[in-house]
Amino acid sequence: MGYRAILFEANKHIATITVNRPQKLNALNIETIKELHHALKKANENKKTKVIILTGSGDKAFVAGADISEFADFNEKQGKQLAAQGQELLFNFIENLSKPVIAAVNGFALGGGLELAMACHFRVASDNAKMGLPEVSLGVIPGYGGTQRLPQLIGKGRAMELILTAGMIDAKQALAYGLVNHVTTQEELLPFCEKIADKIANNSPVAIGTAIKAINAGFKAGVNGYAVEIDLFGKSFETDDFAEGTSAFLEKRKADFSGD
Ligand code: COA
Repeated sequence: MGYRAILFEANKHIATITVNRPQKLNALNIETIKELHHALKKANENKKTKVIILTGSGDKAFVAGADISEFADFNEKQGKQLAAQGQELLFNFIENLSKPVIAAVNGFALGGGLELAMACHFRVASDNAKMGLPEVSLGVIPGYGGTQRLPQLIGKGRAMELILTAGMIDAKQALAYGLVNHVTTQEELLPFCEKIADKIANNSPVAIGTAIKAINAGFKAGVNGYAVEIDLFGKSFETDDFAEGTSAFLEKRKADFSGD
């Protein structure tokens, strides 16, 4: 599939996906959401790829939100469908991928852009980044999971304030809130994320996928995360990666999880 709105680059164990509509500050229209879904699925299914990095093109924006021009005349039914389709194809899809997705937040991450970063497994920001959920200033509310994931990540009171004021926080504040894990210069952002990806890539891909599942379980309504952990912990003992990881440790050698 040829992409129009994104760039896809696979290099050794890292797939880098870049939202590429810089003239619109990388705003997410439906086409971009579909292309991101396709590229993420492809990266997740590629055996060589161990980590996915998601970023925006240019030095100004990660993603400045859902494309406002696309939904300006929507009614209730269309609004619901927009949110449901986006959550299924992109936001929940990313959260539940078995490969880690790191958001490299290289500038504005607003509305759907911050929601996209929050759906990723964790976030690193450059020092020029600005984040917020300004939807109430447009007369709507966040619809791509923002009212749920922002309180999970920074706490209910801070999320209430950020959403209700439609305000923006800078990278330093986002770091203090725990919304991003690290802040770097713009030049260092991708190399820094790649270094974290290299560390992840040394570990068992099967166990990594399982850990993501167990961590996510604790945030799903009606699911007992501890019970899911017990179940998945037990299942780990039946995997080839467990056999390899433990024997490598006992034989004092580096584990080889390539499966070759
Ligand atoms: N949807 C559609 N287009 C968008 C967009 C969005 N979310 N965000 C930016 N753009 C477009 C602008 O319309 C403009 O297009 P144009 O050149 O054809 O007029 C272009 O991107 C550049 O943006 P501009 O507003 O000129 O840049 P700026 O530096 O003055 O301001 C922002 C930057 C991020 C503060 C401003 O673009 C903004 O507030 N964007 C909307 C953020 C938002 O509310 N997101 C939540 C949506 S639910």
